[in-house]
Amino acid sequence: MKPALRIGALVSGGGTNLQAIIDACEAERISGKIVFVGSDNPDAFGLNRAQKHGIPTFVVPYREIIRQSREKRLAWPGDFDLEDCLKKQHVLPKDAPTHRVVQFVVSRAIAESRLLDEMAKYPFDLLVLAGFMRNLTPYFIDRVNTDPLLPAIMNIHPALLPAFPGTDGYGDTFRHGCRVGGCTVHFVDYGEDSGPIIGQRCFPILPEDTLETIKKKGLEQEWILYPECIQAYAEGRLRLERRTHSLDNGRMVERTVVVRE
Ligand code: GAR
Repeated sequence: MKPALRIGALVSGGGTNLQAIIDACEAERISGKIVFVGSDNPDAFGLNRAQKHGIPTFVVPYREIIRQSREKRLAWPGDFDLEDCLKKQHVLPKDAPTHRVVQFVVSRAIAESRLLDEMAKYPFDLLVLAGFMRNLTPYFIDRVNTDPLLPAIMNIHPALLPAFPGTDGYGDTFRHGCRVGGCTVHFVDYGEDSGPIIGQRCFPILPEDTLETIKKKGLEQEWILYPECIQAYAEGRLRLERRTHSLDNGRMVERTVVVRE
């Protein structure tokens, strides 16, 4: 039998997904346990949920760090390689003004080095983003993803990716007049919500639905989907596969996808 999966979690808000994962661990629907919960937001209710279950928590105050970094009051992490980070990141478009991209990756890397310091206190196998509303840079991702064959950071997104990446998946789905909404669990790569898809669930959107009812239906699907995907990881049933497709127009398309066994 595989040893229990050690799960680290990052949250920014209410933490209902975190709660679903905690409950699934306690009910043994996930063969694992949460070893820490970190947040960028000191007021995140998810931290209270963790504490109630005896899970260690910590906060890295991103807002304050980003402000101080803009004022150039903070040193870069000693092991930070700006060129490498700029080359790899594709959260911000390649044609964005350089000073903006530099400010973005430097300030996030400073915050991320603090996250990594906190996380180092609690050995973990998988990091789950459960409503963590910060983009991660290659600096952080490369330090967590140490096995090139199996990524170690998962995210849940409130839309059927690749549609509607970003911060308001259900809002974008609603405003677009979609007939179906959904949620996606994926591995995190260097882009925004662009990593290989592990699982998706969907729900119908009816004429009488509002943004509120869509969010409610969506969250109910998230609470089922996230534990399911984490358990597939715990059982070693996920692997990455690189696929090449040739299109009718002669173009080649390469994609890394998740195969579930
Ligand atoms: C969830 O809907 C999750 O999909 C979304 O934030 C919400 C967090 O709810 N995440 C993102 O938008 C990430 N880009 P919760 O705090 O109750 O789990």
